[in-house]
Amino acid sequence: MAIFLDSGDVNEIQRFKKMGIIRGVTTNPTILLRDGLKGGEEALKERQIEIARLINPLPLSVEVTTNDRDEMLRQAIEFAGWADNINVKITIHGPEGELDNLEVVHLLETEHDVRVNVTAMMSAQQGLLAALAGATYVSLFGGRINNMGYNAIEEIDKLRNLLDDQGLNSKIIIGSTREILNVVEWLEAGAHIVTVSPNLLEGMIVHPYSKETVRMFLADAEKTSNQ
Ligand code: E4P
Repeated sequence: MAIFLDSGDVNEIQRFKKMGIIRGVTTNPTILLRDGLKGGEEALKERQIEIARLINPLPLSVEVTTNDRDEMLRQAIEFAGWADNINVKITIHGPEGELDNLEVVHLLETEHDVRVNVTAMMSAQQGLLAALAGATYVSLFGGRINNMGYNAIEEIDKLRNLLDDQGLNSKIIIGSTREILNVVEWLEAGAHIVTVSPNLLEGMIVHPYSKETVRMFLADAEKTSNQ
């Protein structure tokens, strides 16, 4: 069981890495845009190399920025070459359901020694196929699943049972985390990894009653030193 940080913000990554509570980092183009990345592939390369060095040997997921078959392959091989701890995110299929992606995943894992994180998946059946293609990580988007009206917990449970029964080694990452509650419930449901945004991770640590208790300890400590 592990927690990854879903962030492209170097300061946030540094903050939680220093606490020793994260076991990896995931990014995607939307997260990087939100975290201020501009400047195309050069800027992407610079930011990802910085993060990879910062968290080494923990794994970093970097997503390709295209859905063209050959370009996905080229980018994935290039991105994986930036650092030993980089794995490459490929979506389960293209924006219109194009089916080149699993072939690319299979080629990368079997012929190019690139570890792949198959992403943007909304069901156990997609996860199973990504695992059969050889993906190192299979990413389900729990918050989006719940928003569609079915339960991420059931998809995680189904997928974990399928992977274990078939002897498939892919690790389930559950992302798209929306509530603090999701982290523990999704780990308990069988996810190997939950990837969490910095604000949710901070929310897991800070509790109003813990604050009150700490204030009491500090106030009483001060009183004893004044007596
Ligand atoms: C997982 O790896 C993704 O980066 C992520 O959690 C996306 O979730 P969201 O776009 O639904 O927030």
